[in-house]
Amino acid sequence: MTAAYRPHPGRYETMTYRRCGASGILLPAVSLGLWHNFGAAARFATARAMVRRAFDLGITHFDLGNNYGPPPGSAEATFGRILRRDFAAYRDELIIATKAGYPMWPGPYGNWGSRKYLLASLDQSLQRLGLDYVDVFYHHRPDPDTPVEETMGALSDAVRAGKALYAGISRYPPPLARQAVQLLASSGTRCLMHQSKYSMLVRDIEGGLLATIEDLGIGCIVFSPLAQGLLTDRYFRGIPRDSRAAVPSGFLSPSDVTEAVRRTVLRLHEVAQARGQSLAQMALAWTLRHTSVTSAVIGASRPAQVEDAVRALDNLTFSPDELATIDQILAQ
Ligand SMILES: NC(=O)c1ccc[n+]([C@@H]2O[C@H](COP(=O)([O-])OP(=O)(O)OC[C@H]3O[C@@H](n4cnc5c(N)ncnc54)[C@H](OP(=O)(O)O)[C@@H]3O)[C@@H](O)[C@H]2O)c1
Repeated sequence: MTAAYRPHPGRYETMTYRRCGASGILLPAVSLGLWHNFGAAARFATARAMVRRAFDLGITHFDLGNNYGPPPGSAEATFGRILRRDFAAYRDELIIATKAGYPMWPGPYGNWGSRKYLLASLDQSLQRLGLDYVDVFYHHRPDPDTPVEETMGALSDAVRAGKALYAGISRYPPPLARQAVQLLASSGTRCLMHQSKYSMLVRDIEGGLLATIEDLGIGCIVFSPLAQGLLTDRYFRGIPRDSRAAVPSGFLSPSDVTEAVRRTVLRLHEVAQARGQSLAQMALAWTLRHTSVTSAVIGASRPAQVEDAVRALDNLTFSPDELATIDQILAQ
């Protein structure tokens, strides 16, 4: 039997919290996502230890999706078990986000952005999580075929029904993000945040999305800031058997760990060492150098990775020379 969980009393003293756009919500600069390593196949004790460690370190924001697993839905079920066992007394200290937008169940109503899919999916998520409401309900990706009015209407009604406190959007390009935020606002619902991929290896949001999000006054949540582990020491000496690239998931494969990537990350590692950071810490700090980035959502496979990530917050400042060196390395 595991001992009853008592969160670290100093958990709010060291974490950096950033305001989520022009909202009342503060989020930890590092958040924990449950996309990988929390499904039915993952070890429950490790999953539980990661969530506990995260909360002990001041991470109050946990990012889920209806489809996280595998199988889809099982990460929410795992998190629900952890909540019931350890966090029943701490619900009001948590920001729990989930999403719908990717394939979830067979047939035409288990995917994309219809009102039918979103509202049914949210009910299913709440059941798996064992909650009356989530803090944020996101549309996970734009749907080219459903009117954005319908999708935002569903998010707004989920908020009105008390099943979500805020709405969020993910992967929306700038013009559509603007339209979505305005539609939500016109029905009295706040879009709390936008979520997009951002790391030293994937810099698309610098081309306009980041500025749009800032202009809209919503939070900017960046995911895969470690490029799924490529921007860490994980692959310095090959592909470890327990790493994401080695486990077939369709998201990171051995062919992504090319010699060119390895050369790049080893050079970035040298810059990180000169800053007194691990490569993972520098990669996180680099995403957070924009003050408009509210939080970087990391994934983890063990508690030590969460600890390493949070220590990134000890040094978020980059000199112009460091930034130029990083740009040079990335350009090669
Ligand atoms: N909105 C969307 O469409 C979307 C899409 C993708 C993700 N997300 C969200 O973003 C979250 C994070 O995504 P991600 O898991 O790709 O993030 P990531 O932080 O880029 O990658 C996480 C992986 O990096 C490795 N790692 C993490 N910390 C490390 C450390 N300190 N040292 C060495 N290796 C370390 C681990 O790999 P190993 O497992 O190999 O140890 C871990 O599983 C997801 O859980 C999800 O919540 C959202």
